[in-house]
Amino acid sequence: MTPQLAPAGLQAEPKRTQPTTNLEIALPEPGSSLTQDAEWCVVRVGREWRRIRFHDYAQLFSIPGLYEKVIYDILRCNSPEVVIDLLAKAMKEDGESPADLRVLDLGAGNGMVGELIAKRNADLVIGVDIVKEAAEATRRDRPDAYNNYHVVDMTNLGEKNSAVLNSYEFNCMTCVAALGFGDIPTEVFTNAFNLVQPDGWIAFNVKEDFLNRQDVSGFSALIREMTVDGALDVRIRQRYQHRLATDREPIHYVAIVGRKKRDIE
Ligand SMILES: C[S@@+](CC[C@H](N)C(=O)[O-])C[C@H]1O[C@@H](n2cnc3c(N)ncnc32)[C@H](O)[C@@H]1O
Repeated sequence: MTPQLAPAGLQAEPKRTQPTTNLEIALPEPGSSLTQDAEWCVVRVGREWRRIRFHDYAQLFSIPGLYEKVIYDILRCNSPEVVIDLLAKAMKEDGESPADLRVLDLGAGNGMVGELIAKRNADLVIGVDIVKEAAEATRRDRPDAYNNYHVVDMTNLGEKNSAVLNSYEFNCMTCVAALGFGDIPTEVFTNAFNLVQPDGWIAFNVKEDFLNRQDVSGFSALIREMTVDGALDVRIRQRYQHRLATDREPIHYVAIVGRKKRDIE
């Protein structure tokens, strides 16, 4: 895969295919407890049953409606709503409106978060993801969610891409269900955070285990540092049920909303 900056906004191609809802899906037996990174489902595609790991986003997003059906309908994920509602709540407490937001949605996937922000009439919503199939799925399923969507590797932006992203003058970053697990590493989170202007809003969630001192993802240390040294002024920190695991056990995340005070060094 060669990540690159999308040349034009997704809205330039307004073709819409509604997600398929009559998918045939099977999950692992309830007794089989898998780590979150190993979870999978099988789905019927034509005459064959295909096994897809949830973290194989290229495969997951390439089947219309599969992500929504498995993660949201069956496993009851509610993180986009939780994080965006908390962002709106924190803004309201500061007398501000989501209509003024210029948002970088990091790990945008197929646009679930962008769609919610767009519904709140944000000034600008830009999606960023490393997987090109995520951008294709957004174009297919939610072509109106973003003003633009970039397939880009945030660890290696290069001058041109940095200039484009800087030109948006972001005053908000959202990042939902995308940190850790071989997904977004701390370096990418930091680079995206540093694209947001001082006093901008930061809204994200992270698995609660990643906040333990034993955590090896690096997020526990990073979030502690950010909050202790004042890069992020945390306004809301809320533990909640992110979704069910395939064995139907609850998975808890922590949503964090705050105001950026300065870059992370
Ligand atoms: C579980 S999906 C979440 C999508 C969306 N935020 C939502 O809440 O529905 C995680 C997304 O993070 C993206 N991702 C993983 N690593 C990334 C990276 N290094 N940079 C940008 N996006 C990344 C994946 O491609 C995937 O689309």
